[in-house]
Amino acid sequence: MKTIDLGEWTCSYLDAGAGETIVLLHGFPLNKSMWTFQIDHLAQSHRVIAPDLRGHGESAVSEGIVTMRQMADDVSRLLDALNIDCRVRLCGLSMGGYVAWEFWRNHSNRLAKLILCDTRAVSDTDEIARGRRMMASQVVDTGVDFVADSMLPKLVSPKSCEDQPELVATLRRMILATDPQGIAAAQRGMAERIDMTPMLHDVTTPALLLCGTDDIISPPAEMSKISQSMPNALFVEIQGAGHLAPMEQPLATNEAIQRFLAS
Ligand code: MLT
Repeated sequence: MKTIDLGEWTCSYLDAGAGETIVLLHGFPLNKSMWTFQIDHLAQSHRVIAPDLRGHGESAVSEGIVTMRQMADDVSRLLDALNIDCRVRLCGLSMGGYVAWEFWRNHSNRLAKLILCDTRAVSDTDEIARGRRMMASQVVDTGVDFVADSMLPKLVSPKSCEDQPELVATLRRMILATDPQGIAAAQRGMAERIDMTPMLHDVTTPALLLCGTDDIISPPAEMSKISQSMPNALFVEIQGAGHLAPMEQPLATNEAIQRFLAS
């Protein structure tokens, strides 16, 4: 694990392996350690950069609001600081996927391939955005426990819940370790994210869309539809996984990513 001062904030990141660069962007309210299985696997053939996004993990926290655009700019700044000027493969899960869309919108000259795991293209309905802002106020007042309690049942599939209790325990620890101000700022940022749907036809970057068959947050039918609107996208379902396919089914996820990277 390394830290780097990016001017406005300090970023904690992992840098492993050598070769073409792949950047892994975690989901909310998690951190770079969610990619442990992918880092170990991909670092055998690639340089893997896995940052803690602003307000998460061991990176510095910004209070108020952190938009998906800001997080995408943070990633670009990190690449600058690491002198990575070749095009990268960018892989984002859920919130990391929202950041990846913004990276495509604002830094597409840095992008070779996109991997979108368990994520959405639509913006929030008013009701969902209201719920996010309520969570943002509550988490600062009362702490993170209720966030773990409300999110955990939606994150993994019933099968993972039954077969992998240690995974659920790891996720709870990860959520509880996230700074309340970081959670609040990311929720406010996600509530303001734009609708990518009208732009999907323009995303010509080769893309892989991965989705757990039991994902109830970004369901397979929705992700399949996103892939059909993108000119150069492949859709793969990961059997038995919920919203966190890379953690729940690492072997199948790694295989799909590896195949796409080699294609
Ligand atoms: C995530 O896993 O990053 C979240 O489910 C994203 C969201 O709340 O929309």
